[in-house]
Amino acid sequence: MSKSENIDNTSNELIFGSANPNAIEVKDLRKTYTGKKIIKEVKAVDGISFSINKGEIFGLLGPNGAGKTTIINILCGLINQTEGDAFVGGYDVKKDLSKIKELIGVCPQQAAIYQYLNAKENIELFGNLYLVKKEEINKRMKGFLDLLGLSEASNRKAKKYSGGMLRQLNLIIALISDPPILFLDEPTVGMDPRVRRTTWKFINSLKETNKTIVLTTHYIEEAEALCDRVAIIDYGKLVAIGPPKELIEKHDCKNLEEVFLKITGRRILEGI
Ligand SMILES: Nc1ncnc2c1ncn2[C@@H]1O[C@H](COP(=O)(O)OP(=O)(O)O)[C@@H](O)[C@H]1O
Ligand SMILES: [Mg+2]
Repeated sequence: MSKSENIDNTSNELIFGSANPNAIEVKDLRKTYTGKKIIKEVKAVDGISFSINKGEIFGLLGPNGAGKTTIINILCGLINQTEGDAFVGGYDVKKDLSKIKELIGVCPQQAAIYQYLNAKENIELFGNLYLVKKEEINKRMKGFLDLLGLSEASNRKAKKYSGGMLRQLNLIIALISDPPILFLDEPTVGMDPRVRRTTWKFINSLKETNKTIVLTTHYIEEAEALCDRVAIIDYGKLVAIGPPKELIEKHDCKNLEEVFLKITGRRILEGI
């Protein structure tokens, strides 16, 4: 596909920077934090390589501090890597960030919401920033609010929302420009089990729109329920990668938690 073609929302064809690339590719990626205030340098990402296919829901699973957010932040261009390469939609994060920004939606770990606006006003604001047409904003907003069960609360100011509702609102905002690639950093933190399940169903339904979704989680159940493949990360290194079922079978375990335990000798939730 050539660079000059436009994004065709009707067919959901992705327009990528090079011929038939993976949606995302990471090669020997490293991020080391150093500085006057840091006593010992931190190898937050320590030589990780993987690729993600178009249309895949891909999970970065690992305990707190494993390096998941750092990887997402590099892929979104929020921070620079120390070494290695990262490509999003075939574009190099070091060279073509503006192209990448046209392709991605981001739901950051910390909710980015205007507390004194209600849900609808927040969504409209971000939709306008992304230059989405008014009718499109309204159509998408209604659909997403309904699917997530937020319609009734949508005229209430965001400062009155629970943590889970704020995350749902952030998810809608990340989707308002209908991006082909979506990054969700701990999308269901702070949600009660019922809301979490509604949100899982919603994220799963996005598969039908052929989006590539990269999500981070420390919930094993979430990774198993949602992800086509997971990369299990520990201390900045990739310790396993594959479809949850295959990993479980390969390591002769009952679930992904056991896989992690078998490989690292620790439980994922121990570090949290
Ligand atoms: N700005 C920073 N300065 C120094 N260390 C950092 C910074 N951001 C993250 N780290 C460290 O990098 C490691 C990975 O963090 P992070 O990517 O946030 O992990 P995760 O998202 O898996 O919980 C942790 O040890 C964390 O303390
Ligand atoms: Mg994180």
